[in-house]
Amino acid sequence: MARKIALSNQKGGVGKTTTVINVGVGIARQTGKRPLLVDLDPQGNLTNALAGSLEEDQQTVFEVLAGDIQTADGIMQLDEVDLLPADRALAGADTILMNKMARERILKKALAKVEGDYDYILIDCPATLGLLTVNAFVAADEVVIPVECEAFALNGLVDLLETIDEVREALHPGLTIGGVLATKFNKGLSLNKQVQEALQQQFKDNVFETLIRKNVKLAEAPSHCQPIYDYAPGSAGAEDYEALTTEILQRSA
Ligand SMILES: Nc1ncnc2c1ncn2[C@@H]1O[C@H](COP(=O)(O)OP(=O)(O)OP(=O)(O)O)[C@@H](O)[C@H]1O
Ligand SMILES: [Mg+2]
Repeated sequence: MARKIALSNQKGGVGKTTTVINVGVGIARQTGKRPLLVDLDPQGNLTNALAGSLEEDQQTVFEVLAGDIQTADGIMQLDEVDLLPADRALAGADTILMNKMARERILKKALAKVEGDYDYILIDCPATLGLLTVNAFVAADEVVIPVECEAFALNGLVDLLETIDEVREALHPGLTIGGVLATKFNKGLSLNKQVQEALQQQFKDNVFETLIRKNVKLAEAPSHCQPIYDYAPGSAGAEDYEALTTEILQRSA
């Protein structure tokens, strides 16, 4: 059984995709095992950062969810990770899922067909709490929540935590919060420190010890289709994501 982690926060730009890329490749390098990364965002940022632009005939997670293809036929094998890619067609998925039986379980069922091939599956959620995100929560064992250390960072978390609770109650009692991750941290700014402390107060041990510092190399790497470890080895971003990968792997033990 694969360990399945959804990266979610309905606030945009908090580091969900950056974390999936660099923890994904981090897991591949630290364990020697090939994880499956699932792009569940119609923006396709994960897909573009790992695979550039897709060939016309490349199948995506959309066709998988629509039931048009087998899960395995949508998966691309990249250098170190496997990718179930997304493109803008995924924006229409809600309408298609809405009319299906057990519409919250479609992704879970699709991943069950390939799960045996993997030890780790990471799901990059869109910046919404809609049906795609609910599908990710039902498919996952745990949710990791990246939070940008800035004003009002905690406000939106109420809705996210409520959605997780609703999914637990109605669909998936075993769903856990794998951890809250402080991102884009700048230790020179007292507000950043305050947000981090507030997170620790609220989530206690469930905040990752690793902080992801603000690092411009992390913002540059995706347009070079490289993980941070290759684009800027030795950078703060590479150091932080390596440490986070280790921490996530230890938490499963
Ligand atoms: N620690 C960091 N330091 C500097 N820039 C970062 C850091 N983490 C992410 N970024 C940049 O911030 C932007 C948003 O990050 P990312 O795409 O990972 O967030 P997201 O939560 O997936 O966004 P969305 O909600 O749009 O999917 C990107 O341009 C990314 O390269
Ligand atoms: Mg993203």
